[in-house]
Amino acid sequence: MIIAARKISKYFQVKGTGLMGGGASLKAVDDVNINVSERSVVGVVGESGSGKSTLGRLLMALLLPTSGQVLFDIPDDILAEYDSALESGELEKLRRIEREYSVYTKKGKELKKMRREMGIIFQDPYSSLDPRMRVMDIVMEPMIATGFKRRDEARQMCLRLLEEVGLPREFAFRYPHELSGGQRQRVALARGISTLPKFLVLDEPTSALDVSVQAQILSLLKEIKNTFNISMLLITHNIAVVAYMADYVNVMYAGKLMERPCLPSSWLQVPSKVSLCIQPVWLDLGRSVCRPRVSLAGEVLCSFWR
Ligand SMILES: Nc1ncnc2c1ncn2[C@@H]1O[C@H](COP(=O)(O)OP(=O)(O)OP(=O)(O)O)[C@@H](O)[C@H]1O
Ligand SMILES: [Mg+2]
Repeated sequence: MIIAARKISKYFQVKGTGLMGGGASLKAVDDVNINVSERSVVGVVGESGSGKSTLGRLLMALLLPTSGQVLFDIPDDILAEYDSALESGELEKLRRIEREYSVYTKKGKELKKMRREMGIIFQDPYSSLDPRMRVMDIVMEPMIATGFKRRDEARQMCLRLLEEVGLPREFAFRYPHELSGGQRQRVALARGISTLPKFLVLDEPTSALDVSVQAQILSLLKEIKNTFNISMLLITHNIAVVAYMADYVNVMYAGKLMERPCLPSSWLQVPSKVSLCIQPVWLDLGRSVCRPRVSLAGEVLCSFWR
């Protein structure tokens, strides 16, 4: 398994919302289990504020959890051992496996290696690229910082990656403000895959883009996934995006993952039905009824609605 999160939670302290004006805690991610296996794309959909980005940042160890664990690149038999130890409460075994596989225990060389093997693409290509850096330096930065390539090799790799994401080599010498939104997202992608990661978090990778550009970036993502064999966690509001990209879909609501992941394959044939019912579904989930309020003719779209 590339990524396995177990009982992961993140609570934020929120000021001045308690009864006496004191702090309260907001359960941004609450007791979540999720698996991403080799070469698969796992979608996470959910309304704004449901905790999707927080979950993505926890998996990448960009944020420390309140409780729970994320295990990276763990053989399936050891993960099964971990799960049974979790059930039976064998603390010693848990600690032993966590020492080797937890994303939160890595330090020094190990941490650099893990950073090299993980990448993240953020929603907004306008704010996620440093405006003072040229495209070349933006794409090279992770390769140098993680010790993946020397500077001269990184420069060559950057030019190859620009071609890979459909940008002319001359763009290496441009600054982000000289690029369109779609071109910036291509640069973000080149940066995200520059260290040839095993695992990539895509946090709303297309939602800031025009519809026509969204389609180009999505097909590029699919191409990258197939060429580089990268496992992906795809976070999005857009159910059509997961239907196109993901092998499995998880639905997040108020910090929790709802039921088990489901196959999006049936959604491909029925995108209009999905867009018709997705809004009422979010409303119904709040009342713990996993069923669309509008009645749909034909098949049930996904197991969590049953
Ligand atoms: N650093 C933080 N401090 C306090 N609260 C936070 C912090 N980061 C996120 N939150 C809160 O945690 C909840 C989940 O936020 P998160 O950004 O994960 O949601 P999301 O599902 O990604 O939303 P969106 O679809 O709008 O991007 C929100 O209520 C948010 O306000
Ligand atoms: Mg988000």
